[in-house]
Amino acid sequence: MASIPFDQRDGVIWYNGRLCPWAETKIHVLSHGLHYASSVFEGERVYGGTVYKLREHTERLIYSANVLGFSLPYSADQIDAAHAEVLAASGITDGYVRPVAWRGSEMMGVSAQQNSIHLAIAAWEWPSYFSPEARMAGIRLRISDWRRPDPRTAPVHAKAAGLYMICTLSKHKAESEGYHDALMLDWRGQVAEATGANIFLLIDGKLHTPKPDCFLDGITRRTVIGLARARGLEVIERAILPEEFAQADEVFLTGTAAEVTPVGEIGPYKFTPGQVCQAMIADYDAEVRRPVATPSTAAVA
Ligand SMILES: Cc1ncc(COP(=O)(O)O)c(C=O)c1O
Repeated sequence: MASIPFDQRDGVIWYNGRLCPWAETKIHVLSHGLHYASSVFEGERVYGGTVYKLREHTERLIYSANVLGFSLPYSADQIDAAHAEVLAASGITDGYVRPVAWRGSEMMGVSAQQNSIHLAIAAWEWPSYFSPEARMAGIRLRISDWRRPDPRTAPVHAKAAGLYMICTLSKHKAESEGYHDALMLDWRGQVAEATGANIFLLIDGKLHTPKPDCFLDGITRRTVIGLARARGLEVIERAILPEEFAQADEVFLTGTAAEVTPVGEIGPYKFTPGQVCQAMIADYDAEVRRPVATPSTAAVA
């Protein structure tokens, strides 16, 4: 089924404080965010009507904006309340939420000290990032020619739109060669992350994952580390070289969109998704669907 273009859907988008008809929610072509990538965003999932770890996402959005030198004109409480408005108006119980903040149009040049800051929040129904068949088989990753930058080169811990240029370049190249996604090394040649997800390797019964010193320390990554340790699995955060894929028995990706996605192939290296992939998929699934106590139910308990 051809998907409906994202600017032509029905529904509402929360835009600068109010709900607007989806197809009419537009920005001016001379927006700083568009020309100079002064834009930050979040990717969130709704499970059973609740955004998983909403406050962590909201805090990261505020942090990312601050790293890019601007402040959102809304508090974390207001942003969370705006999410509730969008979800109530759209009736989405299982889907994806995309808050995005950017500099507007008052100044058009590298300097944009006077520009207003805008915030929009859209939500839509969204199934698994990768198809169920691809997940079961383990997805195929191409090792990208592009690398994650040195933290002295770019604000690597912000979820900033500009950093995704490298991801799109990498993913397009991978897809053009029949892969599902790309695995990016960092500026030193160490394993970094996929284009929208972090990576874990099972070596000798222990989970190894790169230290997030020049890429996003994913909320899912941190959740999965906690779940793995709760299962008694040792998790080691360290520098990992691509040659070490030869020793890995299982590999999986983690991310809000990807959830836990087994990997079957990275360049010349092959893996068979096994018990640890299955266990982490099951644990993550149970975790995100765990009922969350609301203030009223908590008061009764
Ligand atoms: C480049 C990149 N790395 C990692 C992640 C995983 O982060 P999270 O688990 O917070 O979604 C994402 C997704 O937001 C991403 O875009």
